Parts: sequence; structure tokens; C-alpha cells
Amino acid sequence: MAYLLALDQGTSSSRSILFDHLGNLVASAQQEFTQYFPLTGWVEHDAMEIWQSQLATIHQVLKQSHIKAQDIAAIGITNQRETTVVWHRKTGLPICRAIVWQDRRTAAWCEELKQQGYGKTIQEKTGLLLDPYFSASKIAWILRHVPEARTLADRGELAFGTVDSWLAYQLSGQTRHVTDVTNASRTMLWNIHTQQWDTELLDLFDIPRQLLPEVHPSSHDFGVSHLFGSAIPIAGIAGDQQSALFGQACFHSGMAKNTYGTGCFSLLQTGAFCSQSQHGLISTTACQTNQHPQYALEGSVFIGGAVVQWLRDQLQLAPSAQRIAALASSVSDSDGVIFVPAFAGLGAPYWDANARGAIFGLHRGSTAAHIARAAIEAIAFQTAELLLAMQKDSPVPIVELRVDGGAASNDALLQFQADLLGIPVIRPKIIETTALGVAYLAGLQTGIYNSAEECAALWKEQARFLPQISQMQATSRLQAWKNAVNRLL
Ligand code: G3P
Repeated sequence: MAYLLALDQGTSSSRSILFDHLGNLVASAQQEFTQYFPLTGWVEHDAMEIWQSQLATIHQVLKQSHIKAQDIAAIGITNQRETTVVWHRKTGLPICRAIVWQDRRTAAWCEELKQQGYGKTIQEKTGLLLDPYFSASKIAWILRHVPEARTLADRGELAFGTVDSWLAYQLSGQTRHVTDVTNASRTMLWNIHTQQWDTELLDLFDIPRQLLPEVHPSSHDFGVSHLFGSAIPIAGIAGDQQSALFGQACFHSGMAKNTYGTGCFSLLQTGAFCSQSQHGLISTTACQTNQHPQYALEGSVFIGGAVVQWLRDQLQLAPSAQRIAALASSVSDSDGVIFVPAFAGLGAPYWDANARGAIFGLHRGSTAAHIARAAIEAIAFQTAELLLAMQKDSPVPIVELRVDGGAASNDALLQFQADLLGIPVIRPKIIETTALGVAYLAGLQTGIYNSAEECAALWKEQARFLPQISQMQATSRLQAWKNAVNRLL
């Protein structure tokens, strides 16, 4: 029996998941880490704490499963994307906290660049919309504001990486500075057509090329880890959303998935065709097992499951996410309450970096349960807006939505999602699809699997949610939601 170890480094927690070669989950461990909010709109992580929490979960799964490093065929890394880490090549230490994808500190500068007309070039080259979400302006901010960063970077003494790159560096004993095409495509510095770092964009953001990692397909020899008693190849890297698309076996054009994580991310596979959205979505690189480019259309919602975390930690409505889900299920609807959790601005399809969250429709009879219900519904409303934009952009009809991520275990959420979308919503047997995707990618590189089709054959449906309300009712619910969002813009 061969095993694959997937490291799923997310925004809220680090997780390690061990799969056998049939895609069965053998063991998993998870650790939350500190979120820093130093100023309004700023979100930071400590990259060392990320690495230590990741390492701790690896040791936990090895211990729990009694599986030895020599039985692990490969490691795959999947990660929160865009989050920016800059470290010193000599000491291996980060020079400042990581700037998280949700951080909006560069919003004003991005707006200026937009006014100067750079949005079009950026979209053409990178498939992305000019927004502080992506890494480029975060790297530039670090070079401008962290003492000595600019001088060190110009001398080639610093390294930039998204979190995958940082983890590969640590796992390989600080010997490899690498990333994959899916993560590179989120930096706003990577030309998704030529598959190269783009000189014009590097000049625009004043970023020296020597700061950047080597870029490879998602299945590749990314180095070897000797940290666990026996050599384990690092054979797969992919951004978490692209990895989930792969893990959901969405290999053919027109297949779509949504992941309910900290944020919500819907991706539509478009194959070798790079389609440009007319409805506020972005084009991105999908996982590649070879040099041939693959693309997807993506809709990104910045606050998904994080709204539940906010109710738990900031509002202290209940001590756990499960209790909040139970509170939400204790009422049959939100009684007119609409919660727009624009805590990090609004992503697709609105792209308003300055929007703030709001709760509408409160009355004297509104209860904590109605607010919790409205928060869960907000996750579905936001996802529905992504899919509706996607339907308009897609050359082929989207006939079903595969779903995964933590909140995909919530039946009420998925039923409401199917109601709003009017298409079946399908939950697979393994909802840890993000981790599974990168395990497949690592398994393909190391010969555990011979083809993507072999992985697709392992995908199994667990539950199917069919629409139960009329299209008119769905449209009216969505209209009320859109009216609420428009009041924030
Ligand atoms: O683009 C950000 C995304 O990769 C974060 O994913 O799962 O941490 O919400 P998640």
C-alpha cells in the first residue's frame, strides 16, 4: 500500500492529510494559527507559525496512523494563495509578517494604477483584475516599507514566495525556491499566456526578478524532504482552489466546483482555452501535469466560512462553528435579515476593495438565530452570484455544481444553494477535495497513478441536492440579496 501526504495550508488552519492510493482518507490533523489584524483592512500571518503548525500536523498524522516516512510515496502541498512571504536567503527567516490575501492596505495604490489605465494590460497578461487581493502590490509594499528590504532584494539576498513556496523551502531543508503555475498565476506578475514572469509587470511594480521562485507544472519534482527519517519527494504543488478543481475530477470544459472555505471559490474548467470574463470573473491557470497550459474561470468570494468564525470570535455568539450552524438551523429562515459580510471588501463580481459589511432587515423580534441563519445564507448567495456570472461567460451550460470544503457538510446550506442555482449540487464522498487534488498531482508525478482518468475513476458522489423552489422564488430571493449588496457600493 502506498500513501500520499497532502499538506493543506489554509487561511485559518494548517492541515495534514494522509491518503492511501485509492484516495481513502487514512489520517488527518489540523491546527489553527494566529490571525493578526494590526490596522483596519490589514490581515497578517506569522510565516514561522505557519511552518511550525504545518510541521506539527505532519508529526501528528504520522503518529496517529503508525505509517512510516518510507511508506509515503510523495508529499503534495496545497495552500492559501496570494499570501505573500518574503524571507532572507541566508538566515531562512521572514523579514516581516506575511501579508494575507484578504489584506487591503494597497487598495488606494491599486485604484491609482487603475485610474492610470493599467487594468487592461494586467487583465490581458495575467487574467486578473487589478486588485490588492493579488501578491504584486503586497510584495511592492514590503520592499517599500520594511527597512533595508529594497537594498537586500536588489542584492538578491531576499526570496519571495506564496505559502507553497515557503513550505517547500522549509521541507527541502531550505534548499529549494520553487512554486507551481497555479500559484504563480495569482501573483499578478505571471503572464498566463507566455507562462513566464512578465518583465513589463515586474517593472511596473518595481520588483527585481531575483526575488521570484522557479515555476513548474503542478506535478513535478519540487525537491526532497529529509525531515521525517527517510527521504520523501515533494512531487505536487497547487493553489488550494485549483487543487480542489483537480480533486473534484473536473477535468473537462464546463465542469465546475465550489469550495466553502474561509472564502468561497468557484472554478470552471475551460481546458486549453483561456476565456476572458465579461461578468467580473478572472481567468486563472488550472493544474498542469505537463507543460501544456490549462485554464479556468474563477469567481472569488473573500468571506465565506470566515463569517462563521467572525460570529464565533468577534461577536462571541457561540463558542464553536458547530454551535453557530446549529443556531442557524434552529429557525426555518432568516425572517428578512440579510447579512452582507464584506469584511475584506467585495470580490467577484463586484470588486470593491472599500466595501464594508452590513446587516439589513433587523427588527425587534430578530434573534441571534436569525443573524446566524442570514450568515449561512450569505455564503450561498455569494456563491450563487459567482455561478450566475459563470453561466453567462461559459460557452457550454453548467449542468451541476460539485462542492467541497468544511461547510459542504452542512446540508441546509447545500439545499439552499441548489434552490438558488436551479441545478443539482453534488457533494462527493471525500469533501477534503483540496488535499485530495494535490495528493493526486503528487501521485501522478511519482507513478502511483498513470493518468488523470485513473484519479477521476476514484471520485464518488455522496449526496445530491436538487432545487426545491421555483425559479421565480429563487430570483426574488437573489434580488433581495443584490439590493442589500448595492446599498454598500
Ligand atoms: O485565494 C485565497 C484562497 O486560496 C484561500 O483559500 O481555503 O483558505 O479560504 P481558503
